[in-house]
Amino acid sequence: MTLIYQHVLLILFVSTIPFSQSVPLNPDYYKTSCPDFDRIVREEVHEKQSKFVTTAAGTLRLFFHDCMTGGCDASILIGSSSDNKAEKDHEDNISLPGDGFEIISRIKNALELSCPGVVSCADILAASTRNLVVMVGGPHYPVQLGRKDGLISQATRVTGSLPSTEMNGDQMIKYFGDRGFSIQEMVALLGSHTIGFSNCKQFSKRLFNYSAETPTDPGLKPAYAEALKNLCANPATNVTMSAFNDVKTPGKFDNQYYKNLPKGLGLLATDNVLVTDPRTRPIVEMYAANETAFYKDFADAMVKMSNFEVKTDGDPGGEVRRRCDAPNSVA
Ligand code: HEM
Repeated sequence: MTLIYQHVLLILFVSTIPFSQSVPLNPDYYKTSCPDFDRIVREEVHEKQSKFVTTAAGTLRLFFHDCMTGGCDASILIGSSSDNKAEKDHEDNISLPGDGFEIISRIKNALELSCPGVVSCADILAASTRNLVVMVGGPHYPVQLGRKDGLISQATRVTGSLPSTEMNGDQMIKYFGDRGFSIQEMVALLGSHTIGFSNCKQFSKRLFNYSAETPTDPGLKPAYAEALKNLCANPATNVTMSAFNDVKTPGKFDNQYYKNLPKGLGLLATDNVLVTDPRTRPIVEMYAANETAFYKDFADAMVKMSNFEVKTDGDPGGEVRRRCDAPNSVA
């Protein structure tokens, strides 16, 4: 009798174990396998950002682009080969600055000396992004760990996976909504444009060819539009010219971006959509008045973005790369 009872219990127990068990991320993933993980990331990030102040913005954008194309799996770090054009060489990623790639590879080198073959490039990218955001004044948020690096990186997968500055409010909301983000989370994430630069080509339509009625977007403050026109006037130098995303406090991760928008100081057309669309304007006004609310929502949205379609221990199609710019099969 007891034997039968035990047998039934065993069957019940076994049947509750899924076939492929993907392990959830956790913040202490490297606690025993690589106890120096936090220290190495912290020290390398500090050194790099102190010398090259554009690293934070470059890495934050790099991370966003990585996550949006096949999940946060560091596929964006892989280089092209003779028979494969990789994600990083897609037109939309060409302007990603070298500083972002460089900091990840420096941290990887240091970690390989300390705990070889243990830490994924995807986790390095997630953790360094958080540390860099904090270094420029942004909020601290927990970074879950245990991502695996992707095996595939193809430029063709980038097409349609990243947002464009030509999007209207409906398209922006759909883009983020399709990826599980609410309108408020979208507005909070776009607060990333409180740091960094944009190239003239990303906003020159607003300056010179806005519409048949007016060459300049009336959504831009006139004095600001004039300054940008001067910056971007010469087509010969245009390709190398960039403007600060946040003209007031360009290097500080604060809520100035939201204060700029109602004044016509939003740089990209999509930034300006946030104040023209009645669904997003109240959120912009709320963040402009309440930096703490922005920090809280940005932190939560970053935690969500950092976990987007991640591969973990139980998932096929992931590995810990030996070097971040190539899958182990070719490295
Ligand atoms: C509608 C959504 C978005 C659009 C259309 C957009 C577009 C752009 C464009 C065109 C640039 C300038 C690139 C260049 O000229 O090199 C830029 C810069 C930047 N974006 Fe976005 N972006 C969006 C959302 C986001 C999100 C969600 C994040 C982060 C979570 C982000 C982070 C950044 C950062 C940090 C920069 C500055 C990069 C640097 O200085 O190197 N963006 N974005």
